Amino acid sequence: PAARPLHGLRALVTAGPTHEPIDPVRYLANRSSGRQGYAIANALARAGATVTLVSGPTTLPPPPGVELRRVETAVQMLAACEAALPCDIAVCTAAVADWRVAGAGAHKIKKTPGAPPPTLTLVPNPDILAHLSQPGPMRPRLVVGFAAETDDVRDNATAKRQRKGCDWIIANDVRAETGIMGGDENEVTLITATGCEHWPRMSKDAVAQGLARRIVAAFAAIPDT
Ligand code: C5P
Repeated sequence: PAARPLHGLRALVTAGPTHEPIDPVRYLANRSSGRQGYAIANALARAGATVTLVSGPTTLPPPPGVELRRVETAVQMLAACEAALPCDIAVCTAAVADWRVAGAGAHKIKKTPGAPPPTLTLVPNPDILAHLSQPGPMRPRLVVGFAAETDDVRDNATAKRQRKGCDWIIANDVRAETGIMGGDENEVTLITATGCEHWPRMSKDAVAQGLARRIVAAFAAIPDT
């Protein structure tokens, strides 16, 4: 039915930051609020999709009708995403930490008077978007990534779309003065294989609705396989 055009489709959305432990009481994190991803999960559910939202730590209430899986680390996020497959649509909005601390263990790092501060060794985290984009029987039919950039937003995001292997990238400008990271509004450029489209600044809910509309149109154009 037109009111629930994504009915029968499964969607996976990642959102929020990840927390990467340094020791049992300390962690590395970032400024992601999760708002854009929660808004997208909500919009897809309202359009009728069956939505799993894999979320890092946020203070947001779960969107109604969405299956919420809470995780802390990138490694946990990847496992939760894999458990949510197969799906038709994947939208990766999470600000996944690029690195985790090697050897983070069960013991709090002690502050020894006179001793030099500890050195943290970082190791790369899995790239969840690139992983979900890999060709194969489990690949979602549509994979959408985000590109939070501070410079040359369109060029960097276009290159990122190809590097990650996803279908669409939504680029946004996260320079501090835009107030986008952690804020209520976003100003995005949608990049597909065939072109770029700049959307004016609008609420994150409106960006989510716009994306949901685009997804509805994409699935209407390509009938079930
Ligand atoms: O490489 P970069 O972090 O700029 O890419 C951003 C996009 O990749 C976002 O869609 C983000 O959710 C996703 N990503 C991911 N796993 C990572 C890093 C980024 O899914 N480890």
